[in-house]
Formats: sequence, structure tokens, C-alpha cells
Amino acid sequence: MAKAALAFSGGLDTTVCVPILKEEYGYDEVIGVNVDVGQPTEEFDEAEETAEALGLELHVVDAKAEFADLCFDAVKANATYQGYPLGTALARPVIAEAILGVAKEENCDAVAHGCTGKGNDQLRFETVWRGSDLEVIAPVRELGLTREWEIEYAAEKDLPVETGDGGVWSIDENIWSRAVEGGKLENPNYVPPEDIYKWTAEPSGETTIEITFEAGVPVAVDGEEMDPVPLIQHLNEYAGEYGVGRTDVMEDRMLGLKVRENYEHPAATVLLTAHGALEDLVLTKNERSFKKGIEQEWAEKAYQGLVFAPLVDALDAFIDETQDVVTGTATVSVAGGNCRVVARDSAYAVYSEEMASFNTADVAGIAQDDATGVAKYHGLQERLANSVKAGVSKPELATDGSGNEADDAQD
Ligand code: ARG
Repeated sequence: MAKAALAFSGGLDTTVCVPILKEEYGYDEVIGVNVDVGQPTEEFDEAEETAEALGLELHVVDAKAEFADLCFDAVKANATYQGYPLGTALARPVIAEAILGVAKEENCDAVAHGCTGKGNDQLRFETVWRGSDLEVIAPVRELGLTREWEIEYAAEKDLPVETGDGGVWSIDENIWSRAVEGGKLENPNYVPPEDIYKWTAEPSGETTIEITFEAGVPVAVDGEEMDPVPLIQHLNEYAGEYGVGRTDVMEDRMLGLKVRENYEHPAATVLLTAHGALEDLVLTKNERSFKKGIEQEWAEKAYQGLVFAPLVDALDAFIDETQDVVTGTATVSVAGGNCRVVARDSAYAVYSEEMASFNTADVAGIAQDDATGVAKYHGLQERLANSVKAGVSKPELATDGSGNEADDAQD
């Protein structure tokens, strides 16, 4: 008895995959797995109804808490990819792991998904699955299925699918971000209509929000302690009312395609802004600038679905080493769709009002006049280089006998 576990959402792609796994791939039994990373409840209802109509055994795994922890790793890494806070990208490996867990428990021989051959998600799922000894199946990609073919096939087989237009937009939603693409939005020059947004109101109003961090992790909003999942959900609602957290990006996908994507992510915007602001107060200049490179690498790997890579563990080790002092509060103002820091406070501030103040002369044994020597040296090489250049004329520089002229002529 061959058995396959299918990532099942109840949409057209995954619904047609059920009979196809049996007919084309020879599996006797197919089970569906739906992983909860904070999709809207209607999506679970749809998956359940469709599974019931198909006679498909459906397993639902709640991975919200684990996913929220990963989102907070992303906060510590100040991670965004081309302006996108990585909601879908971070969720995929968590979903893939959960499906693999069910597949193993249920003694499955294969794991399958309904992704096409164009997107990022096929790569993010499979990099996790291919580490197991289960067979990996991607029917839509492998059989080159098109949407029209699927609709016809579903009608022929009397499958329980919505035969309408399937919605105007293609949407992917979890607690960290809501992505909207497709339809008219595929034209980069098309201005998104207000109705593509669900989490963010038309920008208006103003308020301030104070976030408390402990070792880089958000733990309270306006002084009220909250667990990660409710904290994120609360901020999505609260900051969303002020229209904060909309991004319209031309996204460079893993396979090289440039795709226009619109995102909503109020909580991510508030938390990333506040976290970055608190770091600005407590980290040294050297830590801040070196960490930028680490953050860039972290975000790239996260986009690629490689958060479980040894490199990311190593990057996390560096990041965690910097986060003990990221303890305190940062206050952001949300107004007119913008989010900006307006206050920050920490016992670990690398800041001495006494030293920075214009009103004090000598501090920590350093007199104002001690800077005179520094000022004399500052830019010494640059001044020297400029005066050397001014003394040597251009033709002289080009005919220095190095033979470079001949090369230049050939070029
Ligand atoms: N482009 C994003 C990513 O690859 C999100 C894709 C979400 N899917 C959607 N149907 N809008 O991470």
C-alpha cells in the first residue's frame, strides 16, 4: 500500500492533485495536511469542506507559535527582502517540516505539493523534504498542468472546486504578511485599487505605540505583556487601522523572474522599526555596521527558504550575541501610513548625555582641546593624495611607461 501526504489547501491545484496522485502516480492512499500559520479561518473551512467532499483524510497542524518564533528571529535580524518582511518565505519551511512530520507519523512513502514550476515555494518546500528519504512529488509542475486543464479535469471528475474565476487576486496570508498578486496587478504600471487591501485601512489618523523588547524579542505593547502570536495579531489590527505596512515591490524571484507583488504587514513594520531603533541606541557603531552584512545574508537565505541552513545557525549565533542588550523600549508614531521612531529607552544605552552635551567641557578625563590633534590627522591621506594628483598632469599619468596605453587602445 503506497501512501502519499499532500500539502492541501482545498484550492484548485491541490484538489486535482488528489485523484492525480492515485491515477498517474499509482498511490493507493492520499492524505491531506493543512498547516496553520495564521491563514484566515475561511481558508480552513474551505479546505475541510473540500476534503470531506473528496473523502480525503485531512490533518490540521497548528504551527503558529513556532512560526511566530521564527518571525521574531527575523526581527532580531532586521530582515526584509527588497522591502518585503518575508512572511510567505519564512512560513514555507515551517509548513514543510510540519507536513513531513505528519507524513512520517502516518507511514507515508511520499510528500506532494501543488506548486507550479514558476514560483519560489516549490524550492522552499522541497529543500526541506528532499532531506528525508520520502519521494517528492509536484504533479502540477511535473505534468505541466494549466489552470484551464485543471478546471476541465475537475468538471469531468466532478471534483468539488469553485468553477468561478477563483478570485481576482492570488493571495497568500499568514500572521506576518499578506501577499497579493496576479490579475491586473501583473502590470507594474497599474495602481492597486484600495480593495486589494484587507489588513490596512486607507492611511489616516495618528497614534504612538511603545514596544518593549527583552534580548531583542518583543514582549509587550504599550506596557501590556503578550505572547508572540497574540502580540503580532494585535499589532496587525492596531497599526493596520492607521494604514501602516503596505509595500509594493518589483520582486526578484529565485528563478530570475521579476514579479510585482503587493504586501500588507502592519505588525512587521512596527516591530522592525522599533527593534532597529532600539539597536541604534544600544549597539556600538562597529556592531551596527558589521551586523548590516549579517542581516542582508540572513534575509537572502530566508527568502530562499533556507532558514534551517547551517549558515543561518551561524548568523543567528552572531545575532544572538548582540541581542542581550537589546532590552528596553522603543516608541513609534504611526501616522498617514508611515511608521517612524519617536523615542527609545534602555539601561544598556551606549550613550552618555554628559559626554554628548554641548554644555559640558571636560568629561572622563578628556578635554575639548584633546580633539585638536585628532583634527590635524583627520583626512591626512586624502589631502596628500589630492595634492599629489594636482602636481602630476593627466597625460603624464597615462604615459607612465607601464604599457597600459596599448591595452586601452585595443579596448
Ligand atoms: N512573492 C512572495 C514570496 O515568494 C509571496 C508569494 C505569495 N503568493 C501569492 N499568491 N501572492 O515569498
